[in-house]
Amino acid sequence: MITTLPKVELHLHIEGTLEPELIMQLAERNGIRLPYADLDDLRRQYEFTDLQSFLNLYYANLDVLVTEQDFSDLTRAYLKRAQAAGVRHAEIFMDPQAHTSRGIALATCVNGVSQALADSVTEFGISTSLIVTFLRDRPAAEALEVLTELISLDAPIIGIGLDSAEVGHPPIDFVEVFALARAHGLECVAHAGEEGPPEYVWQALDLLKVSRIDHGIRSLEDDALVDYLVQNEIPLTVCPFSNVRLRVVDRLEDHPLPAMLARGLLVTINSDDPAYFGSYLDDNFRGLQQTFGLDAPAMAALSRNAVQAAFLADAERAPLL
Ligand code: HPA
Ligand code: ZN
Repeated sequence: MITTLPKVELHLHIEGTLEPELIMQLAERNGIRLPYADLDDLRRQYEFTDLQSFLNLYYANLDVLVTEQDFSDLTRAYLKRAQAAGVRHAEIFMDPQAHTSRGIALATCVNGVSQALADSVTEFGISTSLIVTFLRDRPAAEALEVLTELISLDAPIIGIGLDSAEVGHPPIDFVEVFALARAHGLECVAHAGEEGPPEYVWQALDLLKVSRIDHGIRSLEDDALVDYLVQNEIPLTVCPFSNVRLRVVDRLEDHPLPAMLARGLLVTINSDDPAYFGSYLDDNFRGLQQTFGLDAPAMAALSRNAVQAAFLADAERAPLL
């Protein structure tokens, strides 16, 4: 039932799909020496205490991604796994600065990922789009430069987002970047309310004018914010297993998903960084089903929320329902 439920994934970092086996293979192919004795030693690093402890490993492992081929192999591997999970449409995040900051050309990462995405419908039956996410713990001026270059390259992106270490890096710092994106007709989303306070969710809405919030689970701490999100049908791309593994919640049993649904929020279920959290989209749905006893209509409703929240024309939504 879970694998046949048609699914839409709206919060997935392509870099977060880099599996340990592929890290070892790419290191070998590119002649890169890794600071791990072997695959088991690498696997032992996947214990996180918070967002930053995860980001440290996530960024370090990216050193193995060098060529366009590496980026397209990474993307194809995700699409193959997503197909098995029943994903029919995916709006995929990529962090260009995580690559340009280590000397990889912007065109290398963008072309590598988008080449694999271009074949996705025929190869895997998954429609896709690409959203570039800017690292909020790097200067906004750098994000502006990268966005300007993406626009001049006419990169095949539909939107921009904001991610990386949240606390101390409020959305207000990125007003200019998001204004430029909007002026070019790009969709806008932002991570907010994962570790950061509800105030960051308000800023993302009011100042960056985003149309979806990534995570957003701390919105529940602010009743007026919840009312606003409900009234305006602002989708939240929630990632249950990510929240557990990054210790935003202690256990899946403690996840606020049932409370969010009870308040009438437009919640979608997503995998975030499945290679790091050990759970792809089907695993997230299965975990919720087992933990909260969600029945088939409740699971189908979550899937429909994602279809509604996707950046698609109405004619493209119909086949996903
Ligand atoms: N939060 C912030 N930044 C990220 C995440 C996340 O869950 N995954 C990859 N970059
Ligand atoms: Zn994320």
